[in-house]
Amino acid sequence: MPSPRLPHRIFYYAELNRRLRGRLTKGIAVYPGSFDPPTNGHLDLIERGSKIFEELVVAILRNSEKSPMFTVSERLEMLRELTADLKNVRLDTFDGLMVEFAKSIDAKCVLRGIRAISDYEYELQMALMNRKLEPTLETVFMMPADKYSYVSSRLVREVAQAGGPVKGLVPDVVEQKLREKLDPAYKLRDTQLVEVPRKRKRKA
Ligand code: PNS
Repeated sequence: MPSPRLPHRIFYYAELNRRLRGRLTKGIAVYPGSFDPPTNGHLDLIERGSKIFEELVVAILRNSEKSPMFTVSERLEMLRELTADLKNVRLDTFDGLMVEFAKSIDAKCVLRGIRAISDYEYELQMALMNRKLEPTLETVFMMPADKYSYVSSRLVREVAQAGGPVKGLVPDVVEQKLREKLDPAYKLRDTQLVEVPRKRKRKA
């Protein structure tokens, strides 16, 4: 579309914006991950993704090398409950290459979350490898709310396994499943750790 002269420029940019947004929201996006267990950060990203994509497929990797805490069925069950209200969110599982799975469901985008700069290197590597494998598939990064910027499934498992509180880091249904899963010797604390208030400096 050629750039018109003023005063039509404002309409030109409005139209361009509409077209670009239209492109982004059309089609299927896949949000792949381990989700072991799903955290509030995952849920935050799913909600954000569901607002910009026509359909979002949350896909759990089945053949992870790591020994998982929750089975794929348990993770599916938790995610099903957590996303029940999001009508354009679908759940699935996959094996092997993510790009092959994306192609099989006709997804045009991959959604991934970036919490902090430390995530960037790994995510960039993965996105570029996926682009090498399938150049037509675009990776879209979104940031979860900053209050979840330090929350990861690995840390949640670690804290829970040591009996620490995970309230506020994972949805209630996940916290309940963690309680059921953990060794009965460990009891998850009910409350958040209390932050010790800092002493105020006295004015001279
Ligand atoms: O939640 P995670 O563990 O960070 O998710 C990583 C995941 C599942 C997205 C990634 O390991 C993956 O896509 N695995 C499938 C195998 C694959 O396609 N590997 C090449 C990508 S570089």
